[in-house]
Amino acid sequence: MKGSHTPPRVSPRILVFDSGIGGMGAVQALRHLAPILRIDYLADTALFPYGEQEDEFLTKRIVSLLSSAEKELKPDLLIVACNTASTLALTPLRQTLNLPIVGCVPPIRWAGRVSVSRTIGLLATSATIRRPYISQLWHDYADDCQLLVHGARNLADLAEQAFRGETPDSALVKHELDQLFNQKGGEKIDTIGLGCTHYSFLLPSFQRVAPAHIAWLDPAPAVAQQALRRLKENWSFPLYANKEATAPRFFMTSLPADKDRLTEQVRWLGYNSCELFPTP
Ligand code: DGL
Repeated sequence: MKGSHTPPRVSPRILVFDSGIGGMGAVQALRHLAPILRIDYLADTALFPYGEQEDEFLTKRIVSLLSSAEKELKPDLLIVACNTASTLALTPLRQTLNLPIVGCVPPIRWAGRVSVSRTIGLLATSATIRRPYISQLWHDYADDCQLLVHGARNLADLAEQAFRGETPDSALVKHELDQLFNQKGGEKIDTIGLGCTHYSFLLPSFQRVAPAHIAWLDPAPAVAQQALRRLKENWSFPLYANKEATAPRFFMTSLPADKDRLTEQVRWLGYNSCELFPTP
């Protein structure tokens, strides 16, 4: 109607955070669910791999880096798309930042729901598997299952390669999976949860070398759905494409030597360049 006030149509901005490319699985899932969302990405590549860092140091780092990202990038919602960071720092992040935060924790509850053999496997970083969070999830949601875990040192590196289009060495992948299957009772595993977001990009490699009956649980789509649910609580839908909106940005705390190749690999997810994010 003439003269009536039309509220500005703006899309919320999401920030996805990880130590490297692991959070790109959540970006991919979000882009399927809500293609017009603006999704910025921050990778703390200067400290990759998080799985090898000391807990207290890492907590301080994550809180200070994401506080600075909150100020600079002004997201409306943060996804901590990293199990190593989420199982350590979600509580201090929620106490410090002033925005909704969606975390990402190993899918033990989901595995407990679907396993028929009641023997479940979990692949995660060595930092994640030693967190009390894991035994708590096991106790709360899957205590009638045998839980076999493997804290993998090399899988995040292999996932970085796979994301860049390289085929990971099957012998190395098999060696890591054997650390699960060769444990006592390992032959009964029928379900394996991905407890590190990087591993989404290794799923085809896992499926090639593991027994065919294994159910692989990748939480990335569920994380994306949870993020949209949280947005709905804070925004009225539908989400509008905003003509003033700028392109989503992809930041790293340290630029890799193969920056140009990586830029090519993130283009299909909507990013035109890799930019340096200054470390606080
Ligand atoms: N993608 C991260 C996770 O989910 C961590 C990989 C790493 O930096 O070690 O745990």
